[in-house]
Amino acid sequence: MRLSRKRWTICTISILVIFYKTKEITRSEEHQEAQVTGDSELGTSRLMVNSSEKSSRSGVPSFFQHSVEGWRVNSSLVLMIRKDVLRFLDAERDVSVVKSSFKPGDTIHYVLDRRRTLNVSHTLHSLLPDVSPLKNKRFRTCAVVGNSGVLLNSGCGKEIDSHDFVIRCNLPPLSEFAEDVGLRSDFTTMNPSVIQRAYGGLKNATDTERFVQRLRGLNDSVLWIPAFMVKGGERHVESVNELIVKRKLRVRTAYPSLRLIHVVRGYWLTNKINIKRPSTGLLMYTLATRFCDEIHLYGFWPFPRDANGNMVKYHYYDMLKYRYFSNAGPHRMPLEFKTLKMLHSKGALKLTTSKCES
Ligand SMILES: *[C@@H]1O[C@H](CO)[C@@H](O)[C@H](O)[C@H]1NC(C)=O
Ligand SMILES: *[C@@H]1O[C@H](CO)[C@@H](O)[C@H](O)[C@H]1NC(C)=O
Ligand SMILES: *[C@@H]1O[C@H](CO)[C@@H](O)[C@H](O)[C@H]1NC(C)=O
Ligand SMILES: *[C@@H]1O[C@H](CO)[C@@H](O)[C@H](O)[C@H]1NC(C)=O
Ligand SMILES: *[C@@H]1O[C@H](CO)[C@@H](O)[C@H](O)[C@H]1NC(C)=O
Repeated sequence: MRLSRKRWTICTISILVIFYKTKEITRSEEHQEAQVTGDSELGTSRLMVNSSEKSSRSGVPSFFQHSVEGWRVNSSLVLMIRKDVLRFLDAERDVSVVKSSFKPGDTIHYVLDRRRTLNVSHTLHSLLPDVSPLKNKRFRTCAVVGNSGVLLNSGCGKEIDSHDFVIRCNLPPLSEFAEDVGLRSDFTTMNPSVIQRAYGGLKNATDTERFVQRLRGLNDSVLWIPAFMVKGGERHVESVNELIVKRKLRVRTAYPSLRLIHVVRGYWLTNKINIKRPSTGLLMYTLATRFCDEIHLYGFWPFPRDANGNMVKYHYYDMLKYRYFSNAGPHRMPLEFKTLKMLHSKGALKLTTSKCES
């Protein structure tokens, strides 16, 4: 389906009620397919995107005319967005569950698969933070770094590292790409699937040591593991947790709250951005609005080609392919991107997709 044909539904309180009641993404999406009218108190639609803009399926969307020249932050808009976001989530708390929320042996229902459960092990419990890793944090500038191949040859490493707080997604390799992506990281996400894909499921000593070295490189920064989303990765999460304890690795583990993705989705829905499931990048931007006065995004480019028609890798560090426009996947990255680009043009965030000035 073309973006231009996407229907923009108006979010109502009732839809949110249905949404939170069923806590089932698929169910609630059926509801949203129905055209709903009547605006809600929350539906300020401040961020509404003009849905009649055209995009092309195969290449770079024609709406893409993106420039960082002359970009200036609009601080009052940043404050407004922060206030809006805080109506949906308490970013300080939702960024991680804490020790006092669970005891070993407790059962957790997976966020996106409520019938399946996970038992809180002693190891997991011992790694839950006592307080939110972002409690009382405030930064002047933050970088949220996506992993698109658009970063290759960007020379953005230095600029990225110069921010007060650097967020990275999915434990990406850094040192081999330092020129373009930088080295610094204060907050790193890691989906359980990365353990299988990039570290062979930690099945042999070589992969395990490589992984341990990677975690050592985090220097006591935050490692954020979405462990309660879907069943499937629990074995990997447990291996990682055990390694951290056994090797006494200095990382500050965090595990997103059980409601985080629902409330983030709710926030975007009331702004008429109907994303099926927010990508890690969008989750990080949304969380960052709480802590950062200026948010700079790098490595966000959900298209197979750049503005000049050259191929762009999905990840700067591997050969993975991604069908950005497929409806089968959980994410709507081109739609997210369009939204972020609009926020860029209003000065709410800065989206860099080109080379950085040296
Ligand atoms: C949306 O974009 C179309 C095409 O660019 C334009 O004709 C229309 O006036 C715009 N609508 C709004 C509400 O901005
Ligand atoms: C900043 O954003 C607000 C809210 O969108 C808007 O009213 C204001 O005109 C903007 N200020 C500048 C300097 O662009
Ligand atoms: C959780 O623990 C209970 C009782 O100890 C056990 O019956 C159940 O199979 C466990 N569930 C999982 C998913 O490990
Ligand atoms: C960890 O510390 C080393 C030495 O101070 C530094 O070179 C490296 O960039 C740091 N790593 C991260 C992820 O910040
Ligand atoms: C460990 O497993 C990886 C695949 O994940 C393989 O490439 C590597 O050769 C293995 N190393 C040893 C020492 O078996």
